[in-house]
Amino acid sequence: MAGSFAQLARAADKARDTMLVPKTALETPPLEIHTLGADALRQPAQRIGKVNDQVRELARDMLRSMYTAKGIGLAAPQVAVYQQLLVIDLDLENAATPPLVLINPEITAASAGLDTYEEGCLSIPGVYLDVVRPTAIELSYRDEMGRPRKMKADGLMARCIQHEMDHLNGVLFVDRVTDQDGLQKELKENGFQSKHVQSVS
Ligand code: NI
Repeated sequence: MAGSFAQLARAADKARDTMLVPKTALETPPLEIHTLGADALRQPAQRIGKVNDQVRELARDMLRSMYTAKGIGLAAPQVAVYQQLLVIDLDLENAATPPLVLINPEITAASAGLDTYEEGCLSIPGVYLDVVRPTAIELSYRDEMGRPRKMKADGLMARCIQHEMDHLNGVLFVDRVTDQDGLQKELKENGFQSKHVQSVS
């Protein structure tokens, strides 16, 4: 029993360590990040039943593609995988800081207080616009080992989690932009079409 527990613990440590992939740009990233207009971005993601090596490998590949694109967050539907998985790393400069992997995330509480902050998205490169969201959130999720977790987030982390969770429901930050003139201008300047926005406001 003790032996097998130690073995399991070692396997768990190894799996967690392997979420740390080099935070560098690859010449050929493993996954293509789809952009505004692609159907992939509008597909809802399914809950993940079992967190296994396949899920961890997907998370690593998402991280490799995210680091290559110099992003701080990526959700599985952006790479045309319709599973409730997202990765976040707010410390790109520090190779030793592990990324955050959220599986089946659910927001359990959101602050009444709202913040306005300029967002961007790897699926809509070049477009940066203000979005209003709750300042702070609480959530439950499973980590990369499948363990149930809870966390509180505010600031940029709360912002980023809410943005990525929107992706799991096929919602993009441009859908939440209220400045319609600014939106039209930014989209046009960056080669995107406004018909692909599905406003939720
Ligand atoms: Ni995004």
